[in-house]
Amino acid sequence: SPHLLSVDSLSRDQIDHLLRVAARMEPIAQRRQVTRVLEGAVLGNLFFEASTRTRVSFNAAFCRLGGSVCDTTGFTFSSMAKGESLYDTSRVMAGYCDAIVMRHPEQGSVAEFAAATNVPVINGGDGPGEHPSQALLDLYTIDKEFTRLGKPLAGAHVLMTGDLKYGRTVHSLIKLLSLYAPMRITLVAPPGLAMPDHLIELVASRGHRVEQRDSLASDYADVDVVYTTRIQKERFTAEMSEGFSLSRDFTVDRAFLDRRCGRDTLVMHPLPRDSRPEANDLDVDLNGDPRLAIFRQTDNGIPVRMAIFATLLKVDELIEKDLRPVRW
Ligand code: CP
Repeated sequence: SPHLLSVDSLSRDQIDHLLRVAARMEPIAQRRQVTRVLEGAVLGNLFFEASTRTRVSFNAAFCRLGGSVCDTTGFTFSSMAKGESLYDTSRVMAGYCDAIVMRHPEQGSVAEFAAATNVPVINGGDGPGEHPSQALLDLYTIDKEFTRLGKPLAGAHVLMTGDLKYGRTVHSLIKLLSLYAPMRITLVAPPGLAMPDHLIELVASRGHRVEQRDSLASDYADVDVVYTTRIQKERFTAEMSEGFSLSRDFTVDRAFLDRRCGRDTLVMHPLPRDSRPEANDLDVDLNGDPRLAIFRQTDNGIPVRMAIFATLLKVDELIEKDLRPVRW
């Protein structure tokens, strides 16, 4: 398939190749060099659900490879508001674009869209399904941070917390991590928001140690990564929304990190974090703490998304020959 819809379609070799290509993209992402290797190519950026990072960084990544972007955001700006199907929209967009990134609130919708075309389609998030590019940039971040800290990935202990039921980034990330050396994965979710069983079973079947705990009030001294996610209230059923509030006990903050975790523990979050006080999301009291890797994650989104385009459009071997220093 020419598409990137789920991390399931990637072998360990392909993931390793992608991460190596991403590392080679860093000088371009850091504005030290430029390439025009995708000159003449057009990206269709189709977002039917709110986004800042994924939409803008896919856009910027395509531009930094020399391509151009058509950005269509929201149902109201597309003819899907007039009842046009995913199939027809896909056939139309494929005539205009050389690659398409799509986000949609329904799980499986991006795959349905992609089935109608051979133009590469990248899943930018399909409801509570998957978010493969986010998980790839998270893996890239973990690998880079571990290299900086002189830690091996093998045997790492990753704590995933927050909304593990609807958080599509953790669905993709847990599968990606499970392709690497045996790890320990601890899952802590508020009631009703646990990681789906089939994902726990998959990871356990690949030889990883998976444990579910009820709370963050426990000893996490040997945790290497705390990966926390926003509560996705927009995906709750009416019954779940009724009277739901997240207990502060599930908040990752300075007190949790200082009292429960080790000195080198990394704190990650796919973002956005919900800044409303009642949301009890990742606390701002960690802003400025070097253990907080969230903005290193967002920066890594550019080289990783460039690598995704370069490999899907088969220009990854051409970039080195096309590099020039910046003139601005
Ligand atoms: N992480 C992420 O998907 O962010 P956006 O919703 O802003 O794209």
